[in-house]
Amino acid sequence: MCGIVGYIGDKKASSILIDGLNKLEYRGYDSAGIALCHQDQVEVCKQVGKLNNLEELVDEKKPQGRMGIGHTRWATHGKPSTPNSHPHTGCEDEFVVVHNGIIENYLSLKEELLSQGHNFSSETDTEALAHLLEENYEGDLEKTVRRVTAKLEGSYAFVVMTVNEPDKLIAVRKDSPLIIGIGDGEYFVASDIPAILSHTDEVYILDDGEMGVVTKDGVDLSTIDGEPINKDIFTVDWDPGMAEKAGYDHFMIKEIHEQPESLRRAISGRLSIDNQQVILEELDLSPEELKGYERIYIVACGTAYHSGLVAKYLIEDLVKISVEVDIASEFRYRDPLVSEDTLVIVVSQSGETADTLAAVREAQDKGARVLAISNVVGSTIPREADDVIYIHAGPEIAVASTKAYINMLMVFYLLSIHLAQIKESISQEKATDLIASLKNIPNQVAQIIKDSEKVFEEFASEYAKHENAFFIGRGLDYAVALEGALKLKEISYLHAESYPAGELKHGTLALIEDNVPVVALATQKSVLDKTLSNIQEVQARGASVTGVVLNKKEEVVDALDHVIEIPETEEVLTSILTVVPLQLLAYYVAVEKGCDVDQPRNLAKSVTVE
Ligand code: G6P
Repeated sequence: MCGIVGYIGDKKASSILIDGLNKLEYRGYDSAGIALCHQDQVEVCKQVGKLNNLEELVDEKKPQGRMGIGHTRWATHGKPSTPNSHPHTGCEDEFVVVHNGIIENYLSLKEELLSQGHNFSSETDTEALAHLLEENYEGDLEKTVRRVTAKLEGSYAFVVMTVNEPDKLIAVRKDSPLIIGIGDGEYFVASDIPAILSHTDEVYILDDGEMGVVTKDGVDLSTIDGEPINKDIFTVDWDPGMAEKAGYDHFMIKEIHEQPESLRRAISGRLSIDNQQVILEELDLSPEELKGYERIYIVACGTAYHSGLVAKYLIEDLVKISVEVDIASEFRYRDPLVSEDTLVIVVSQSGETADTLAAVREAQDKGARVLAISNVVGSTIPREADDVIYIHAGPEIAVASTKAYINMLMVFYLLSIHLAQIKESISQEKATDLIASLKNIPNQVAQIIKDSEKVFEEFASEYAKHENAFFIGRGLDYAVALEGALKLKEISYLHAESYPAGELKHGTLALIEDNVPVVALATQKSVLDKTLSNIQEVQARGASVTGVVLNKKEEVVDALDHVIEIPETEEVLTSILTVVPLQLLAYYVAVEKGCDVDQPRNLAKSVTVE
């Protein structure tokens, strides 16, 4: 949730830390702070609210130093306030800490520290760690960190420094991501790659129970118990420009526009030239093993969960095996019926979502094989899963997911065709048609953006006037409608509900009144007439209907107040196209309402706590 950045080198640390925090703001943003070590002093600057509040303070105080740590906070223990923001120090400004995660036993630690005479100035769990370091320090920070870490319970990634040893940062990881970036005579620490991507693409990825002692001259890696570790350097293949706004007003609209390119990356090298086959080389499961699975469980949270709902339709339709889709926070606590013969697919853009990670462990404990679909190479979920397929969307910064969702869908399409070919549940001819259509999808997405962006810019104001909106569809369209409603809720704070079109009459129709906006997805030919009847039902009650349709059939168009047409494709592939207008709608409504599009209130991009 929160973001960590650290720097040691010859440059001015404050600007590097602020720049890193800017790239991390999507992780959490109710407050932020930096601390710099200069000569024998630590200077801490922190501020509640957006990062520009901190930037103003830093401009005013001009903290000096070539080593420092920074943090953006998303409150868990203690309300958003300047005292509760990180970095935290002990009683004196000698030991400084930034921390992600939760120290579960902080209350008992705090009690002991209070009895030892320590004074606390915040309500956070993290402050206990700073006091613990102060209490236990005997002249060697590394030894102290090992001793203190042994007393901690919970999940954490933290970075500490002390004025007593102003030449090192110590980074520790357990259950919360942390990387060490390798520069030329300078080193970086961060919770996420974008924070340091403009400085280096070479990193060490810490695993659970590991720590790094980082000086200007290098990094010593070891386990928390003191065993030295040799680790390969990991080279990040993201382009630093991907984490910049590049002239767009918001990351979200930039990422919507990046979708054709990110889809091309998702299919690159995965479709045979003759359109005969899907090639998923990274999948370590043999065709025989894949054939053996009679049931698939898809587990995820948020938008990733919605990609799983689309996948259920695809897999059941093409592969003819039963698929159950579950929300990770439900799956992990309800003794799910998975075993060796279930393939569990977990989906996570960040690869760090705490509930999804717990679901991986739960499924593995029950003997299931876990396949992860993820965006962030080297993140925890892909590392713990048995197999991984990366979606290659590149860094996604806006909290509301767009290009990661669409790439998740693309990977599910590839996987479904692959499984269907192995299971021989579709003919070669059908597979060839689907593959040919998939190759065309990136261009079609580009076309939809071009055709519909202006339209949405113009009629977003109509939506912005309302407090409620409804999204309806049948089959695959319903799965996409759920994502459309979520997008609108997340960033425009408009209440949006998604309903299977045929279910409205069982209650929700009561909420339809004059001018209420309804988005109707009508691309599934087999149920088109039924969906049309449902559109008429809401229109008869005064709703203003925007239709997303496959082709402008007259009878459909006549019934609609606005029409967005998506290009012709295989019916089963429409979801990857229909979601694009819904993303644009949500974006322009949020802009119209003056909302903070990239950083919606109360939400964080990566949720690493339960
Ligand atoms: C948060 C984000 C959502 C995201 C969900 C799952 O709630 O705000 O946009 O869909 O986490 O994240 P993941 O990284 O696991 O896909």
